[in-house]
Amino acid sequence: MTALRKRLMAGNWKMYKTAKDARVFVDELKNLLGNVESLGSVAPEAAICAPFTVLYALRDELPQLGVGLGAQNMHEAAEGAFTGEISASMLQDAGCQYVIIGHSERRAYFAETDEAVAKKTVVALESSLVPIVCVGESLQERENGQTDTVIEKQMRVVLDALASFAAEKGESEKVKDLVIAYEPIWAIGTGKSSSAQDAQQVIGLIRRFIADRLGQDVAQAVRVLYGGSVKPDNIAVYLAQEDIDGALVGGASLQPASYVELLRKSV
Ligand code: 13P
Repeated sequence: MTALRKRLMAGNWKMYKTAKDARVFVDELKNLLGNVESLGSVAPEAAICAPFTVLYALRDELPQLGVGLGAQNMHEAAEGAFTGEISASMLQDAGCQYVIIGHSERRAYFAETDEAVAKKTVVALESSLVPIVCVGESLQERENGQTDTVIEKQMRVVLDALASFAAEKGESEKVKDLVIAYEPIWAIGTGKSSSAQDAQQVIGLIRRFIADRLGQDVAQAVRVLYGGSVKPDNIAVYLAQEDIDGALVGGASLQPASYVELLRKSV
């Protein structure tokens, strides 16, 4: 990892935890770690992406521990008749600095398209939320040797939208806030993590796609995470890879002890 990019350890709580559970998590985090800054000048950036109903319970508490707050989805419209949806300004209002976009579970179960993902990514950046945009191939795609083309297609739609955003709105600096999470679908929640070499190969490719479309300057600034069965005992091998800047973690972010262990191993 170059010195330019700060590591990011982002938890994705998915559809787990009530407000009471979230408060227990924060209390334990406080006891185990205190503030993330206690890890020193090379402390990673830390974020928890929580269910909507828990955001208010965390909005004042998490920042006091040096941990950012994020959501797991948003709608691209500013407001409107979209029952059950939530906007970027509502997330900001609830204290969010991050939002996960295009998680494979949203693509698979809620028919989220590459085009919707691209629109949401631009709106998040316009709203000064850090978008954590997820890409990744299925097991069948990997076995058919289609990984690179699947990732290329998912990235192309987002990068085209970001290129227009950067050019038309003069926002080339803001685009550097983008975070990409490479999450092979077959590695999510299965205990079958990708080898660090395979993850580096795809993440290196993602960085080249960014460089080709948005320039080397942006590509060197954008953080690219690995996600899929990341645990305290395997995080080090991913972070040792040149292009891997952190992780998006599901299961192991639910327990304060394992999340703290991940943070400690990210310094
Ligand atoms: P697990 O870490 O539980 O495999 O989940 C990964 C994930 O989907 C994070 O977004």
